[in-house]
Amino acid sequence: MPISRRTLLLSSAAGAAASTTIWPLSAAATPYRGPLKSSPFTLGVASGDPDPDGFVLWTRLATSPLAEDGLGGMPDRSVRVTWELAADERFRRVVRRGAVTARPERGHSVHVELNGLSAGREFFYRFHAERYTSPVGRTRTSPPRWERGGTLSMAFVSCSQFEHGYFTAYRRLAEDEPELILHLGDYQYEYAPDTYNIPGGNPRDHQGPETVTLANYRQRHAQYKSDPDLQAAHAVAPWAVVWDDHEIENNWADETPEQPDPDFLVRRAAAFQAYYENMPLRRTSIPRGIDMQLYRRLHWGRLATFHLLDTRQFRDDQGCGDGYRDCPAAYDPARSITGSEQEAWLLDGFHRSTARWDILGQQVFFGQRDNNSGPQKVLSMDSWDGYQASRDRITRGWVDAGVRNPVVLTGDVHAHWADDLKLDYDDPASRTVGTELVCSSITSGGDGADVPGGNHPWAAWNPHLRFYNNQRGYVRTRIAGDSLTADFVVLPYVTTPGAAAHTRASFVIEDRVPGLQQVADNPTPGAALRSAPADLGAETVQQETSRP
Ligand SMILES: [Fe+2]
Repeated sequence: MPISRRTLLLSSAAGAAASTTIWPLSAAATPYRGPLKSSPFTLGVASGDPDPDGFVLWTRLATSPLAEDGLGGMPDRSVRVTWELAADERFRRVVRRGAVTARPERGHSVHVELNGLSAGREFFYRFHAERYTSPVGRTRTSPPRWERGGTLSMAFVSCSQFEHGYFTAYRRLAEDEPELILHLGDYQYEYAPDTYNIPGGNPRDHQGPETVTLANYRQRHAQYKSDPDLQAAHAVAPWAVVWDDHEIENNWADETPEQPDPDFLVRRAAAFQAYYENMPLRRTSIPRGIDMQLYRRLHWGRLATFHLLDTRQFRDDQGCGDGYRDCPAAYDPARSITGSEQEAWLLDGFHRSTARWDILGQQVFFGQRDNNSGPQKVLSMDSWDGYQASRDRITRGWVDAGVRNPVVLTGDVHAHWADDLKLDYDDPASRTVGTELVCSSITSGGDGADVPGGNHPWAAWNPHLRFYNNQRGYVRTRIAGDSLTADFVVLPYVTTPGAAAHTRASFVIEDRVPGLQQVADNPTPGAALRSAPADLGAETVQQETSRP
């Protein structure tokens, strides 16, 4: 039987197990404690969670990022790291500098949380350790909290399986120079090499085994962060990140793993710690025991409020054994995908909001996707369809609160989708009360193909589904007072490097007019055209090839 959270906390099993994982002390070897022998800035730099007077600056030191013990080849001692923040790229106008200590017990990660800066400004930052200097990153503070007007260029991404392709989409995203980037989960994948394969074989391999220990997760994060395209995307703008399942394990639900595993909570704690160490998160997200606070809010003046959700850590287990099912649990009002505390926090946020756009950054498909053309409904138990009472309470919550422009952003499904959100998906007369934009994967699933007609066959009996494309890419948005424009950017291939980006379709959401208005439909020139899978969504590839 899995151990309970209480048992684990009382016995400190998580802490004890984690510390043995961090310190695999060998009696034979004397740990190296001398000077750095090469640059420790192999994992790039990042910034995150901007507010009007600050943000987090991040780096993690590793001279040998792929070291199996997860310690990145670093000496067994703390390292002093200095940082600089400047108004210009050449650091002629340095506005702040300071020093922090990178400690081995935190994987030599560095989180500098700044405040007291001017609002709505661009900054540049870099780090120094011993005789080495990091690459330069660009970041920004958000506009003053009560400022009206303005615009925001924001992009959102998800699902970057390193083995399934090159991170060209991250490079193209960096070239767009957005002001803010959201990552909606599956930043990395837990699989051992050659266990989650795309047709034709994976062009790259994971290092190390399936991630279970803290050392495994640290090594995996380091492998991903070594990628120059990902480093470019982090260096260009602040990110706001939320995890989905693969940062921990496929389709985990709170304390329940995909397959029975008595040590799952120890694994979860290790994954959370490595996630914190490797992301530009504030200290409010430092893991405590087996828990980590990830849901939070960001404000972009009064233009946009981002409600960033965690639909994994507090959810009830998926109904009827997960997968696509016709399952009574999907309708059980006692079941929740957010947990009651997060739900209350979100509903309260709707009532307090003064933003023009209220944007939910979250993991799994929100609107209904019935995959059965007949009267029986067959729904994904892992998405909001499997927690319909939760979805109804949130949707009704924003309607009752008079939220002006609710927009849900989603990842997970390895395909671009766009859909109108309804109070009642079974009533053709039900009015549209919000909009969902779903980004495809950066790589997960491999090259993919454009689809005939630019929509999924399910749209025939799910008329609120408005757009579908099964290529890799990201979604670029421009948010202004009177409209939000979304460009669905695709790449013709990811299994070899260097693809150009193509804007496959663009939609506008107008102020106070929920739902999508298509303004551009640009089939990908020269792209393979394949029908969408008739029965299941793209994300089921990963379910079918889950851990052996
Ligand atoms: Fe994914």
